Order: sequence, then structure tokens, then C-alpha cells
Amino acid sequence: MSQLEEQLHRRRTFAIISHPDAGKTTLTEKLLLFGGAIQLAGTVKGRKAARHATSDWMELEKQRGISVTSSVMQFPYHESIVNLLDTPGHGDFSEDTYRTLTAVDSALMVIDVAKGVEERTIKLMDVCRLRSTPILTFVNKLDREGRDAIEVLDEIENVLQIRCAPVTWPIGMGKRFKGVYDLRHDRTHLFSATHGGHIQSGEVIEGLNNPRMDELLGDQADELREELELVQGASHPLDLDDYLAGQQTPVFFGSAINNFGVKELLDAFVEYAPPPLARTTRERPVEPSEPKFSGFVFKIQANMDPAHRDRVAFLRVCSGSYKKGMKMRHVRIGKSVQVANAITFQADERRQVEEAWPGDIIGLHNHGTIQIGDTFTEGEDLKYEGVPYFAPELFRRVVLKDPLKTKALQKGVLQLCEEGATQVFRPLKNNDIILGAVGVLQFEVAAYRLKGEYGVEAVVEAVSVNTARWVECDDPKMLARFQEKAYENLALDGDDQLVYLAPTRVNLDLTQERWPEIRFLATREL
Ligand code: G4P
Repeated sequence: MSQLEEQLHRRRTFAIISHPDAGKTTLTEKLLLFGGAIQLAGTVKGRKAARHATSDWMELEKQRGISVTSSVMQFPYHESIVNLLDTPGHGDFSEDTYRTLTAVDSALMVIDVAKGVEERTIKLMDVCRLRSTPILTFVNKLDREGRDAIEVLDEIENVLQIRCAPVTWPIGMGKRFKGVYDLRHDRTHLFSATHGGHIQSGEVIEGLNNPRMDELLGDQADELREELELVQGASHPLDLDDYLAGQQTPVFFGSAINNFGVKELLDAFVEYAPPPLARTTRERPVEPSEPKFSGFVFKIQANMDPAHRDRVAFLRVCSGSYKKGMKMRHVRIGKSVQVANAITFQADERRQVEEAWPGDIIGLHNHGTIQIGDTFTEGEDLKYEGVPYFAPELFRRVVLKDPLKTKALQKGVLQLCEEGATQVFRPLKNNDIILGAVGVLQFEVAAYRLKGEYGVEAVVEAVSVNTARWVECDDPKMLARFQEKAYENLALDGDDQLVYLAPTRVNLDLTQERWPEIRFLATREL
């Protein structure tokens, strides 16, 4: 095996999808703890700061700084090198969250056992489905009273439309929580709460029928045996091909805060989760084992401090390897650039890397020439696909304080748009500028940066747009007719693509029904 093959087979690049408060940060800490990346859990910075959307700009900047350092966390585990990509979740939920999911090879879904499937998880799951991303599930907070485990699995299957295969099964819950039974290895891990962030191991009992089970669990041993019979009859056996195809999710139970069930999860993760696979470019599929370097940019992070206007472009390596000082071709602008100082993000410390392999993320310093979706190669003209724009869910009209600044506003907004900070829509019927986003903080960031970087003072105000769809039709006449009839609701995006801005969901449904020949698209390739 070549060094490249060896390195790429070790890589596991993933992100956590969850609704706020399900336990993503806590679980991240514990995973890093197992990876030896941090000594004690509780040190993943910014968990409180990142909790609230805020208009305090110092605070905002702190948050952004923090999320740069914790954007990508790399740690070794057994034979693997794990790359965990952060998906901004609380106030800083944005299109970055969605696009990060286009750069991973698999995902880990965290569900709060008391809350079940929540709204944000549904959205993130929809994004995973675009690429049939394999998903492992961790049902968290078993140390608290929650819903029946079977009920939670039912909900996952019904709401998220993915089959569940339990790999571990909880014994009791809340005060009666005794541990998990590992269906793969026919053994039980007994629970004991931990304090602080130490790794600890409770007693392990081999075999479901081991008398030690009855001795320690009392009635709960028989309850478990009965429940397992029921579960195994009613649920799906683990099928790795189905998992890799995104059709089935292996499910684990535990308590992240008590570091319980996390090791089983991580062990299975490095075993089941796929290494980097071939990815499609507009020209041809690219195998990760191809010796020549290639990758794409999925996120650009701007520094909020006007004194340090550096932006970092996050590039996912797809083939070959990055070596410090190498030349790369920036395909869109047709230029070759020398990259001497790419950064990587190990746990919570920024450091320069000498090399990076498929599945790894590197940060390129960028002064505005790099856009989201850009491909870099070792010479070949390729364009990676699958880094789309997502239809925004929130809309605001930009109102200028100084009407003479219209030109500067347009320029600023278009650049923010290219960076993926926000999306812009210009209605056909008037000169409004409407911003679109998936998280409210995006509007604050846009207004702040317009002022700081383009000298434009603007405020954003509510506008009656509920959702947007890109519009396409093979028949130009039909499209022209639609354009005439739907004129009031049509706009152009930052790339002059036609977009339907629906005032309500009902309006969108009706319009779609009325115009069956028109395609209404919720994503658009960059
Ligand atoms: P998030 O990143 O998904 O938003 O969730 P986070 O890890 O911040 O966890 C949200 C809350 O849930 C935190 O409590 C955290 O301690 C708690 N939590 C996480 N895992 C478990 C678990 O296994 N069992 C129980 N009982 N609680 C859990 P908080 O009070 O909001 O914050 P903190 O004061 O603990 O930091």
C-alpha cells in the first residue's frame, strides 16, 4: 500500500448533527478525551459563549474566534485519524452548518432521549440525504427520565425516514439507569456516574444470561431480556451496506455527560464509518487515491476584527496530498498559487501543517479571491460538485441610512454573498435588496461587515417572504409566461439566477401545483 493509501484509509471525517442542547458539545469533549486531544473534558471553549445569539459585537467576535479554532478537530484513535468538523448550532447556525455537511464522509446524530427528533435535526438530516451520507445515532441523556427507547426509535424511523438498527440497548432510564447491553458482543456495560472529565470503566458482564446480571440488576435483568426479544423482533439487524448507503442508522444509547456509552460509539464509529470515497467533479469522478492533489472550499470564515481582515478558506482535501509550500491551481480564476502557510486545527490549537491527506481539512489564508465551492488542484481543470446554496429560511430587507451609498451596498452585499455569509435577492419589481439566511446571526454579521468593510450603514427589517426556490424550465416560452404571471414574486439572486420568493408555504404549494412544468429547486449548485 502506498503512503497515500495508508493515510487515507485511516481517515474518518465527520460532523455531529443535532438540535441545540441535545449534547453535541458535551459529546465532542468526550470524543476528544478518548482521542487524547485534551486532558480533561470541559475545555472545549466557547460552550457558553456560543449559546446565545447576541448583538454585542465584542461577544460576537469572541465567538467567531472561538469557532475558528474549534472548527475542525483532529485526533488519533486506535489506528484511525478522526477529523471532527464543527457544525455551528446555537445562535451561529448558518449556511456554513449545511455546507460543512457536504465536506464530511459521515455524520453522527445526537438525539435527546426526552425530546426525540427535533426541528433542527430534521433539517440537517435533509442535507445529509442529498449525498446519502451514512449516519450513526447516539441517543443521549439516559441518566434522565426520557421517553421509551422503542418509541424514540419509532420516531426516528417515521420522521427521518431512516431504518434503525440498535447496536446497544439501555437498561432502565433516569434513576433506574443501569447501563447498556452491547448487542454486537453480547455483553453488558454497567453504568456508574462520573464526576469531572475522567475516563472510567464500569463493570462489564459477558453474556446476557450470566447470573451476575441477575445478581446486580435484579428484576431489571429479566426485563432487559424480554425487551431485547421484542426489540430484535421489531427492529432491523445491523447491515453495514445499508448504513453506508444512508438507508439505515446504527443506534447507540448513553449519557455523554457521564461519559457513558461514548467509547462503544467511538469504537464502532472508526470501524463502520467510511474513509474518504470518490467524489464527483463536473468533469469526472476523482478517487482519493489519485496521486495528484485536489480539494474544494466549503466554508470561508471572516475575522470580525477590522484590524485583521484575514479570511480563512476551509478546504477539504479529496485526493493526493497537500505538502507545505506546494503550488496549487485555483481553477475558477485559472491561476497557480503557492501555499506556504495552510493551517490545520488540532483540537483547540491552531498550528501549521506540513502535509494533509484526503479527508483532512486545511485552512487557506484568503484576501477575498477564494469563493465557496472553489476547486484547487495540482494542475487539472476540475470543478467539484455538491457544495450548493441552500434555500434560505429567513429574509430581511436592507434599508440604507444614507441613500447615496447604494452602489457600495450592492458591491458589499454581492461580496458577502460570494463568501457565503448571506444570500442576496433583488426583486424584479423594485430596487429592494433582500438578504436570505438560515440563521438570524447571519443578518447581524452582514450588517456589521457592511459597515466595517464597505462603509455602509444599513439596518435590516422584516419582509413578507417565507421561503425561496430557484426556478428552472426546459421550455423557454413556458418560463417567459411564468415570469410574466409571477412577476410580483420573482427576484434575481447574486448570480442573476431566477428565484421565486414565496410569501407563504401555501402560496409555494399552490404555485407549484399550478405550474407543473416549472422546477422549483431548494438548492442550487455553486
Ligand atoms: P449542545 O452542544 O448540543 O447544545 O449541548 P451541550 O453539550 O451544551 O448540552 C446541553 C445541556 O445538556 C448541558 O447542560 C449539558 O450539561 C447537558 N447534557 C449533555 N449530556 C448530558 C447527559 O448525558 N445527561 C444529562 N443529564 N445532561 C446532559 P446545561 O445545564 O445547559 O449546561 P452546563 O451547565 O452543564 O454546561
